[in-house]
Amino acid sequence: MSQPILEFDRASYSYPCNARSAIQSLNLQVPAGKRCGLIGQNGCGKTTLFLLANGLYQPQQGKLYWQGEPFRYDRKSLTKLRQQIGLVFQNPEHQLVAATVEEDISYGLYNLGLTESEIARRVQEAIDRFDLAELAHQPVHNLSLGQKKRVSIADIMVLEPKLLLLDEPTAYLDPRHTQQLISLLQQIHAIGTTILLASHDLDFIYRWADWVFVMDRGQLILEGTPETVFAQREVLEQLQLGVPLAIELMEEIRAIVQRNDNSNIENFEQWQQQILEARRLL
Ligand SMILES: Nc1ncnc2c1ncn2[C@@H]1O[C@H](COP(=O)(O)OP(=O)(O)OP(=O)(O)O)[C@@H](O)[C@H]1O
Ligand SMILES: [Mg+2]
Repeated sequence: MSQPILEFDRASYSYPCNARSAIQSLNLQVPAGKRCGLIGQNGCGKTTLFLLANGLYQPQQGKLYWQGEPFRYDRKSLTKLRQQIGLVFQNPEHQLVAATVEEDISYGLYNLGLTESEIARRVQEAIDRFDLAELAHQPVHNLSLGQKKRVSIADIMVLEPKLLLLDEPTAYLDPRHTQQLISLLQQIHAIGTTILLASHDLDFIYRWADWVFVMDRGQLILEGTPETVFAQREVLEQLQLGVPLAIELMEEIRAIVQRNDNSNIENFEQWQQQILEARRLL
């Protein structure tokens, strides 16, 4: 693998008043340019990992590296780091800061040293892309949770980070806005942005990701392409994570073919591959 864009090297993090480490000697390398999915049970450490990844938390042991350089935690280094690593919080209420939607989207842009006209251009583009025109002048606290989530994603995407971290971005989104998010993620991936996205929606991860990390109790226990990770049924069952619907269906059909007419199994395997590949094309 080429140099990872972000690396955790035996990093550990414990919260005060909590005896168990949320992140335990974690080794994880985020490959540059990929769409990475992060899955794992509630409480396995995904959100803590994100908060370490943009320097909001500092590991008590181990290190993090950004493009091969160790993280530095002085204010100037952190400001620079956070311009390159954007984090969309799991809970949008923890992220929104300004009075109106438009102000909230422009907030981070003022720290980037852009001209007023460039800021206005990027804000308008984000408002259009995220379907926020009708809400642009609304007070943020009056929005629904799904609307807040869309604003919080727009806030970060507008900064054009090199690495985009999204903690449960589809939570609260309806199918239309989930689809819209998928196409926006395709667009920003196409211009070279690396993405790390945590989700409990395995169908979404299966369709979207090209690399998958599975976490348990603060550690990485499995990683690979969606095909290799989701083929590890035993591990996923032990963690009670389940498997994507496409894989489940294929296994059921395979069992039926085997029961009824085993001679067709070779044909079945050929089109199984085609169907699974087609499911992953967006
Ligand atoms: N502020 C906190 N103080 C103490 N312990 C915490 C705090 N936040 C999280 N933890 C603990 O750290 C562990 C990891 O939590 P984290 O929120 O990172 O998990 P997660 O994988 O994001 O879960 P979820 O899928 O529910 O979002 C859990 O055991 C949790 O109870
Ligand atoms: Mg979380």
